Amino acid sequence: MPTLIKNGRVITATDDYVADIFIEGEKVVAIGKNLSQQADTIIDAKGLLVMPGGIDPHVHLDMPFMGTFSSDNYETGTRAALFGGTTMVIDFILQTQGKSLGSALEEWKGRSDNNAVGDYSFHMAVTDFNDETKKEIQTMIEQEGITSFKTFMAYKGALMIDDRQMVGLMEEVKKHGGLINVHATNGDMIDYLIAKYKSEGKLAPLYHYLSQPEVTEAEASERFVDMSNYTGCPGYIVHLTCEGALNAVRNATRRNQKVFVETCIQYLLLDASLYEKNFEGAKWVMSPPLREKKDQETLWAGINQGLVNVVATDHCPFKWEQKLMGKDDFSKIPNGHPAIENRMELLFSEGVSKGKITLNKYVEVACTNPAKIFGMFPKKGTIAVGSDADIILFDPNEKHTISVNSHHMNVDYSAYEGWELTGKVKTVLLRGKIAIDNNKCLVEKGYGQFVKRNKVEGKI
Ligand code: URP
Ligand code: ZN
Ligand code: ZN
Repeated sequence: MPTLIKNGRVITATDDYVADIFIEGEKVVAIGKNLSQQADTIIDAKGLLVMPGGIDPHVHLDMPFMGTFSSDNYETGTRAALFGGTTMVIDFILQTQGKSLGSALEEWKGRSDNNAVGDYSFHMAVTDFNDETKKEIQTMIEQEGITSFKTFMAYKGALMIDDRQMVGLMEEVKKHGGLINVHATNGDMIDYLIAKYKSEGKLAPLYHYLSQPEVTEAEASERFVDMSNYTGCPGYIVHLTCEGALNAVRNATRRNQKVFVETCIQYLLLDASLYEKNFEGAKWVMSPPLREKKDQETLWAGINQGLVNVVATDHCPFKWEQKLMGKDDFSKIPNGHPAIENRMELLFSEGVSKGKITLNKYVEVACTNPAKIFGMFPKKGTIAVGSDADIILFDPNEKHTISVNSHHMNVDYSAYEGWELTGKVKTVLLRGKIAIDNNKCLVEKGYGQFVKRNKVEGKI
């Protein structure tokens, strides 16, 4: 079923030109002017941007967390992602302390196999690094294609590991060509502050924010960067939010160290004043919390300076009744917010349309860098001959409004309700098939494939 996309403005991380794209099977097979190959489907893309499908490397689907499960499963989450122009996500497997990485992988396969609409891969979160876990690292990388290992320096008593485990894990992961992702905040300090506020009867969502001041993130980021430098293991800081943490990375560049940095769309666009809305603030209870306007400026600048490499979502949705678990105690509000469907359009509207980043930078941080950093380039993350035909057609001028009434995520509120955006995803192709068109999903659950990833080179 060959497809020909005609006359679109093709944008990659480095290029910007008008051309036709010819797709056969799952791959792009030709790009050029006035292509004349026979096609079953011809799409007129005149006036539209033609960009690689988005890759969101930080999502939590159907994840057991804080006494409940995130409300999007593989079907609803990856379908919503497709509607928003994200053709692939990387989800997190969580090892159960005392159990193996292999058993966690089986558990996650049980939830994801044959259920995804869009493509996906896994990071493996190591919550218990010991002699047995150590033996599984090579298998994960070489047999399962899971080449990135998540660590939590926070969530004390649940997911957190100590520095001894961190350094041991780093040495093993480096040996086999993988990468460490980190949630870098100081878990002991946060644990102390949570207990302090609770003992004082300070229980509103605002105290979630106050329990995780900037210093908790700056300190842990610096510690992580130092351990990564010492071991030589490639490191990737997830959901970095603030100036202090980014400065830790900036300082590391002075000794010629490269640490990958991800921020998330919410930290670029929302700020901590939302926690002043009493319990409604629970919609934005996430870790780390939203920060200040000055941090937003630092993050936008960090993108343009090449210090912030990726804009993800940390999509971890909970319905309002789940958020109500913490009505009388902020520490029981499930952490996370919904954004998987909104990232590409929000970043375009608030970033490209408002002149903060270029179109090439947009593709770089939303599509190409995630593919490069996590060992999938050039299969994913670009438009090139031989790459998967994961392509979005985007109208840069269409205006629309975000609302719970029109989104496809399985959550009963929108964290961006009423936001008026410029720029809309019109058509999405996933491995050559039209997946989204005219606001309809044309592929079924089970179409989404698990993507095995290559070893990580530690550079982009
Ligand atoms: O609040 C968040 N971020 N929830 C998901 C778990 C995590 O820390 O990424
Ligand atoms: Zn986290
Ligand atoms: Zn997360």
